[in-house]
Amino acid sequence: MKKKLIAGNWKMNGSLVVNEILVKALVAGNGQGTCLVAVCVPGPYLAQVQQLVAGKGIDVGAQDVSSHEVGAFTGEVSAVMLRDFGVRYCLVGHSERRQYHGETDAVVAAKAQRALAAGITPIVCVGETLAEREAGLTEEVVKRQLAAVIHANGHCISEVVVAYEPVWAIGTGKTASAAQAQQVHSVLRSQLRAATPQADRIHILYGGSMNAANAAELLAQTDIDGGLVGGAALKSAEFLSIIAAAQ
Ligand code: 13P
Repeated sequence: MKKKLIAGNWKMNGSLVVNEILVKALVAGNGQGTCLVAVCVPGPYLAQVQQLVAGKGIDVGAQDVSSHEVGAFTGEVSAVMLRDFGVRYCLVGHSERRQYHGETDAVVAAKAQRALAAGITPIVCVGETLAEREAGLTEEVVKRQLAAVIHANGHCISEVVVAYEPVWAIGTGKTASAAQAQQVHSVLRSQLRAATPQADRIHILYGGSMNAANAAELLAQTDIDGGLVGGAALKSAEFLSIIAAAQ
C-alpha cells in the first residue's frame, strides 16, 4: 500500500522567527513516521526551511512556479531555481492562483510540465466553486482541469500528485463530507486510469478545511491518499495530529 502524503500549504503566512518555531516542533513531533510529509512555503523561506528539515523526513514544497523556462519574466521563479533549493513538490493551479491571478487550465498544465522537467513533483490542484457544485457541474469542472494536465504531460502524468480542493471548502470551515470527497476522488482516479496504467500509484490528496477532527475519516476513504492542509498546517499540534491520522 502506498504511503499517505500530508502536505501543508502555508499560503502567504510566516516569518523567519515563526517558521523556525513551527518547523522545529514538526521535526520533533514527526518521528519516524510512516507517511510522507511536506510543507509548501513562501519562496523567500525555501532556503531557511530546507535547512531546518534537511535529513529529518520532511520535504519542502513551493506554492507556485513559472510556466516559462528562463529569461525576461520579471517576478517569476523557474522550476530549475526551485530545484536549486531542494524543492521536492510544487503546488500548481491552486484555486487562489486560478481565481486571483487568472491562471487558466493551459497555464496550469504548462507549470506542471516545467516542474516535472526539473525533477519536481507538481501537486496539481483542481476543484469546483460553490456555484458550480450547485449547478451540478462538479465532475465536469474537475475533469476539465485535470484533462489539460494529462494532455500536456502524456505518460509523465503518473509522476504528478493531484489535489482535490473544493473551492467552497477552502478556509471556510466547511469540509466536504468523506463521501462527497471520495465520490470526486473516484472520478479523478478513473480519469487517471484511462490515461496511465500507473494510476493507482498516483496520490490524490483532499484539501479544504482538513483538521485534526476530520482527517481520520477523510483519509480512510479508498481514493483519498493524503491531505493538502492550509490553516491547520500553521499550528504544529494540529498538523502533527493530521499526520498521525495518516499513519
Ligand atoms: P484550508 O485548510 O485553510 O481550508 O486550506 C486548504 C487549502 O487551500 C490548501 O491548499
